[in-house]
Amino acid sequence: MKKQKNTPSQLSQPSPRVAIAIMAAGKGTRLKSQLPKVLHEVGGKPLLSHVISAATRVVPASDVFVIVGHEADRVRAAVAPTGVNFVLQSEQRGTGHALMVARTPLSAYDHVIVLSGDAPQITPQTIAQLLNFHLDQDAAMTLLSAHLDTPTGYGRVIRKNPRSSKVSSEVQAIVEEKSATLAQKQIREINAGFYAFSVPQLFYHIEKLSTANPHAEYYLTDMAELLRKARQPVVTWKTENSAEVLGANTRAELALLDSQIRMRKCTELMAAGVSIFYPSTSVIDAEVAIAPDTVIEPFVQILGSTRIGRHCRIRSYSVIRDSEIADGVLIRNGSILDNAHVATNAIIGPYSHLRPGSNIGEAAHVGNFVETKKITLGKGSKANHLTYLGDAEIGAGVNIGAGTITCNYDGVHKHTTIIEDGVFIGSDSTLVAPVRVGKNAYVAAASCITEDVPEDALALGRSRQIVKENWAREKRAARQTK
Ligand code: UD1
Ligand code: CA
Repeated sequence: MKKQKNTPSQLSQPSPRVAIAIMAAGKGTRLKSQLPKVLHEVGGKPLLSHVISAATRVVPASDVFVIVGHEADRVRAAVAPTGVNFVLQSEQRGTGHALMVARTPLSAYDHVIVLSGDAPQITPQTIAQLLNFHLDQDAAMTLLSAHLDTPTGYGRVIRKNPRSSKVSSEVQAIVEEKSATLAQKQIREINAGFYAFSVPQLFYHIEKLSTANPHAEYYLTDMAELLRKARQPVVTWKTENSAEVLGANTRAELALLDSQIRMRKCTELMAAGVSIFYPSTSVIDAEVAIAPDTVIEPFVQILGSTRIGRHCRIRSYSVIRDSEIADGVLIRNGSILDNAHVATNAIIGPYSHLRPGSNIGEAAHVGNFVETKKITLGKGSKANHLTYLGDAEIGAGVNIGAGTITCNYDGVHKHTTIIEDGVFIGSDSTLVAPVRVGKNAYVAAASCITEDVPEDALALGRSRQIVKENWAREKRAARQTK
């Protein structure tokens, strides 16, 4: 974040070098989980990923330092693609200790913004405001504070004059819940766990932190009192949006954060022209994109990198993951799409299962209880009932009858079925791959097709029907005479 503009008068004063440190080494004991806390997901991605994406919108990833410790390799692997740096805190001796171990890399900077890896709703705007205020005030420490109606569990901001205004330099200390007196517990102004520090001031005084507290840990929060006593300016920047500061220490808090993040996503989509009926029931991941005039019915999940075009309708109980859906598509109830592509005006469902590599063409129909995998289904083609289509190239204008099965697997290898344009496959046919059905050919119902069918041909792959006249009547008569 560059504060100064390069106007001639300021050229002599270089922009301050700013790093962001994200504390993510803790175990998250209160979650009672084998998964490290910061990898628990809200809004479809790990807590830590939310914090990293806010941080990297303020400074480049190369200036972001994630402090890892508990299950460090797992945490690193999960977020390494973002390009951030890592610092190992092999023993987790508190938030103050987390910064102590990051001393060497952070010493190359003038200021450091400290974020908590377990508070995912922090926005780049708030981080930038915190930094700008910190720089304007020339503070040694600026802490982000918020008013919470239920402040339980958070550190409280102790002020000399509690009635002072929003912006105040009269912070005396931060007191953790466990050490707070009854009177201090009444304070609703909490420490959000986000700070800006002057790097020289932080590391000059950090050695004075002690572990004389109920957790026997080095509390970063004690820096407020330490710096105050050293007559260094400690100020607060109060956020109006208290939801931003909520951390996830328990499963119940995770659930609350998840619902808040998802509601925010729905609100953004609705503001951009998407209709969502009953938004509190829809689960839409952060990276999902949906174009205006699309309608999302209740109880729908749209996950991962899914993109949906305009004028689509997604009916209830559908689950769509990492899929691409063009304009005007109707997804009927209860359909599951995973890594599928659906072209304009296609109709899917009810109860279709589109597995990875399913490419459904323009205005094509995939209906009730149809499973597809690694196929192309051409323009206007239909597979409406009870069918399995796997490893198939199906042209345009094809009709796949009910109960058709591509037998694509011989127990060792997968084989391809090719069905050319205009083909009619009668119901209950099995197509034993590798096999090709030529353009405009017919396959009679209930056929087992093991050999290629030429263009314009009719293939009958079933035994001829035998009719035994009066067979049933004679059988009955024989029974009666017995
Ligand atoms: C902390 C603050 C509290 C504040 C709250 C806001 C302290 C002592 N208290 O409490 O004032 O109101 O955040 O959410 O800082 N971590 C490490 N290494 C450690 C310990 C923790 O990296 O040795 C990380 C954790 O993984 C977590 C973050 O630091 O991401 C905060 O730690 P946590 O134990 O959740 O602190 P709180 O009890 O929530
Ligand atoms: Ca916390």
